[in-house]
Amino acid sequence: MPNMRTLGEFVVEKQQDFPHATGELSSLFASIRLAAKVVNREINKAGLADITGAVGSENVQGEAQQKLDLYANDKFKAALEARGQVCGIASEEEDEAVYFDRDSNANAKYVVLMDPLDGSSNIDVNVSVGTIFSIYRRISPVGTPPTEEDFLQPGTEQVAAGYVIYGSSTMLVYTTGNGVHGFTYDPSIGVFCLSHESMMIPKDGNIYSVNEGNYIKFPVGVKKYIKYCQENEPEDGRPYTSRYIGSLVADFHRNLLKGGLYLYPSTASYPNGKLRLLYECNPMAFLIEQAGGLASDGNTRIMELKPTELHQRVPFFVGSSNMVEKLEQFLKDFPEQ
Ligand code: AHG
Ligand code: MN
Ligand code: MN
Repeated sequence: MPNMRTLGEFVVEKQQDFPHATGELSSLFASIRLAAKVVNREINKAGLADITGAVGSENVQGEAQQKLDLYANDKFKAALEARGQVCGIASEEEDEAVYFDRDSNANAKYVVLMDPLDGSSNIDVNVSVGTIFSIYRRISPVGTPPTEEDFLQPGTEQVAAGYVIYGSSTMLVYTTGNGVHGFTYDPSIGVFCLSHESMMIPKDGNIYSVNEGNYIKFPVGVKKYIKYCQENEPEDGRPYTSRYIGSLVADFHRNLLKGGLYLYPSTASYPNGKLRLLYECNPMAFLIEQAGGLASDGNTRIMELKPTELHQRVPFFVGSSNMVEKLEQFLKDFPEQ
């Protein structure tokens, strides 16, 4: 395999694109890569070992925590602390931001926000799940403990973002603002290999991804958009296709490759939608924009929203640019709830 490039090699190669890069981001990626391999190994044992199911506790958002939610959280947290490039993390599974207090971490420049296991209700039924991460340079001075302000930065300030999809193969997809690159894990050698360089999402797609069980609770503009998809034929006599896995990472990944729109609108039960701005929507928004697509809350660009809370939710529309624009137009034309 003379042209094979590993994730580690590629990150170091691309580091030269950054002025004053010192290798800290590469080292941070090494932490993520390592934790992803450990979580991947564990997920692959689901069904054999006693690792599926709920633990009986809830996270701060009142959602049942699965054993693998907590396992993935611990592994990513430990890997990020160990290399000393990160001064703190925020996670779906932690009520508050976690500040690493070792001396080496106090001098670190970065904070990481993460959804350690996305789509965790799919684990027990052998359907794809993922990990989502978002990396920021801290605002507080290096050498002091991080502050809340470091974690509540708008998505436009992200230094890097990405996800791991534990699917029919395991992939890591990331951006540092110079395109989106995907690496497929080869378990026989334990290495992520470059397989998808400079990924671009088609401007148009024929897939819409939404939990249609919530249809009657959707805003009028979203209902009209879904009807539009059902009544029109984007290409060669076929109507739009509905595809919804229930793991944001998996739905996003498919739409990134094929073109499409993922929707999680506000509903009567979730007036701000369900997905979390800081560790689900912002990283996906950074990736999709880098791949030529768009991410919106229906009105505003996701990455320009100013966060006020760690676990803040936001309506989320992400995917092919023409589809997001069309959806936004429907919401403008039919503003009723
Ligand atoms: P998580 O497992 O991290 O809590 O995320 C689940 C999210 C997302 O992955 C998925 O698209 C969405 O919740 C599914 O929600 P519904 O079951 O309400 O459709
Ligand atoms: Mn999630
Ligand atoms: Mn999760």
